[in-house]
Amino acid sequence: MTNTTNNGLEGVMVADTAISEVDGDRGRLVIVGQDVEDLALAGGFERAAARVLIAGGAQVGDLGLGRARVGAWEMIPRIGDALDRADAMDALRTALAHLRSTGDDLADAIAAIGAVPVVIAAWQRLRSGQRPLDPDPALGHAADYLRMTTGAAPSLTAAIALDTYWVTVIDHGMSASTFTSRVIASTGSDLISAVVGAVGALKGPLHGGAPGPVLDMLDAIGNPERAEPWLLAELAAGRRIMGMGHRVYRVRDPRAAVLEAAVRPLASRRLELARGVEVAASKILRERKPDRPLAANVEFYTAVLLDAVGLAREQFAATFAASRIAGWSAHVIEQRRTGRLIRPASHYVGAWPAAGAPEHADAGSRS
Ligand code: COA
Repeated sequence: MTNTTNNGLEGVMVADTAISEVDGDRGRLVIVGQDVEDLALAGGFERAAARVLIAGGAQVGDLGLGRARVGAWEMIPRIGDALDRADAMDALRTALAHLRSTGDDLADAIAAIGAVPVVIAAWQRLRSGQRPLDPDPALGHAADYLRMTTGAAPSLTAAIALDTYWVTVIDHGMSASTFTSRVIASTGSDLISAVVGAVGALKGPLHGGAPGPVLDMLDAIGNPERAEPWLLAELAAGRRIMGMGHRVYRVRDPRAAVLEAAVRPLASRRLELARGVEVAASKILRERKPDRPLAANVEFYTAVLLDAVGLAREQFAATFAASRIAGWSAHVIEQRRTGRLIRPASHYVGAWPAAGAPEHADAGSRS
């Protein structure tokens, strides 16, 4: 044990995993043995979800997410006031907590993956004064989510773009929410508890809560020529530029390029603006922090893509959860097979009883 506290656990390896690998220096993301750029073209979300679950150790063929969405719809009358929450992530956390844990991780994972789009689409429709729509099990997961949200059959282009987004963000090494799910699984708790905890971790703006604010930023800037003064004022006010920087990447997040390409067919009026803002933000941050590369992260083009497929910005973080829940579930299954109870140490810096501190307390007493 060292005597130095590592608050953010940077670089600490807490698990062996076969699910994904992030190379932050080279800007490479490998998921279940494929580069993210290739995985994004290799079939839709349901297939990718099955592959991450298999990598985690589950034995699964067809996930049957259509059936899982129907099961989730039947649960809606029993989720109390979950859909009244003002925040979509609060609604999602509360609704998922109503899922029954069966003790079978794979069955629980499929139920939870199926529930997210149903819950979020229903939440979005209720807050816009519309009746929630029941799922169509014959549709793909992405197309059905868009239909349940907007009430209209989505264009093929929009369904493909959302599907690509979901495949791209399905897993990402030991992200904060993934770590949360593994900590909970490591205690022997159930998968539903693990994914509910992970939703809580994902909600924060430093993790999955950034794309809504990215869209707010693009709206506030409005025109690429206004980007530089707006960003400088933001930094002068002590705020961070949303969608920029990453704990692991020291170059542009490879997912940004995948999503930027996926947005192109949607002809979003915000794409050119986003490119202009990214260029300005990269330049300013390079000048400000020459020793700490801060480039666009996944959230930058997520905001543009999710807006272009017709989702409200209040749904963005929960739409991220709709995909990452497959990754969390795979990590829960893998943690059970290969991991131990995750229980790190803390360095006590509080007061000691009158009798005095134990010897060497300054050197780091731990509990
Ligand atoms: N805008 C401005 N400055 C930033 C920044 C950003 N987006 N991201 C990091 N920095 C600065 C920090 O203020 C810090 O400066 P300091 O050393 O003068 O205090 C320095 O860069 C290092 O930041 P640190 O907080 O140590 O990095 P981290 O690894 O903990 O942070 C993020 C990673 C993602 C939390 C951070 O980059 C961030 O807050 N980005 C904006 C939110 C976002 O897009 N989140 C989605 C992530 S996928």
